[in-house]
Amino acid sequence: MKLNNKVALVTGASSGIGYATAVALAALGAKLILCARRADRLQELSDKLKSDYETSVHCIELDVTQALEVKKALSALPLEFSQIDILVNNAGLAAGLDTIVDAKIEDWDQMIDTNVKGLLYVTQAIMPAMLSRKTGHIVNIGSIAGHLVYPKGSVYCATKHAVKALSRAMKLECQGTGIRVTEVDPGLVETEFSLVRFKGDAERAKKVYASITAMKPEDIADAIAYCVTRPAHVCVAEITVNATEQAVQLV
Ligand SMILES: NC(=O)c1ccc[n+]([C@@H]2O[C@H](COP(=O)([O-])OP(=O)(O)OC[C@H]3O[C@@H](n4cnc5c(N)ncnc54)[C@H](OP(=O)(O)O)[C@@H]3O)[C@@H](O)[C@H]2O)c1
Repeated sequence: MKLNNKVALVTGASSGIGYATAVALAALGAKLILCARRADRLQELSDKLKSDYETSVHCIELDVTQALEVKKALSALPLEFSQIDILVNNAGLAAGLDTIVDAKIEDWDQMIDTNVKGLLYVTQAIMPAMLSRKTGHIVNIGSIAGHLVYPKGSVYCATKHAVKALSRAMKLECQGTGIRVTEVDPGLVETEFSLVRFKGDAERAKKVYASITAMKPEDIADAIAYCVTRPAHVCVAEITVNATEQAVQLV
């Protein structure tokens, strides 16, 4: 029970990497704040965590793109959950796979609003209390798309390059405060990511994982669990986790 009594907030906990991370942290003894837009999914996960790990769980139906909603929800936490020790900024998505010429502007807006601005809104709501308590751990989920660009992935890759810049800036701003900042950059993980990217086209989404053994969300949750269970004087700055069959040249 390495995270006994610690409070962990996971955004995008209704699916994929966020869901698996919530399970992994609960298994380590953390109390969980689960955030996402699909409240029914959060409730199901909450029931599972309570029955499997007897942990305390607080669910927040939250759209991270809504700055005021984020501020309001995170400033009115029940006392038991009010001191957040671990923030996992995971909520994110790719919308579409298009050239700059062909892409839909609303897809760009959604990716930038969620992956960049949403991460900032949540961080700004939580970081001040960590700074005043001089303790806390912020884990940002980037991507190998923050190390490279791939055809028709310009804006998604740009958002993940932004996550890298923001993670490094947060680290600078937290220097000397005791707060840790970690960026976890996954390669290909089989989640609802492609289904969302292709707007519900299950056939097209399935093809993404047809010719390669992709990672499972639990593989990334495992890496996150490693990062947040190091001793207080150790901070994993950046960690990249790839599918073995995925050949990428990282910068
Ligand atoms: N899968 C991969 O290959 C891969 C690789 C590298 C990085 N990543 C990153 O990993 C993170 C998780 O993705 P995933 O693969 O687990 O995909 P996923 O299964 O589609 O999960 C995405 C999560 O983000 C949440 N989310 C999306 N928009 C949101 C919003 N506006 N407000 C609140 N929550 C929102 C979704 O919840 P609701 O829809 O219920 O709101 C869902 O829980 C993302 O940041 C993604 O960029 C994924």
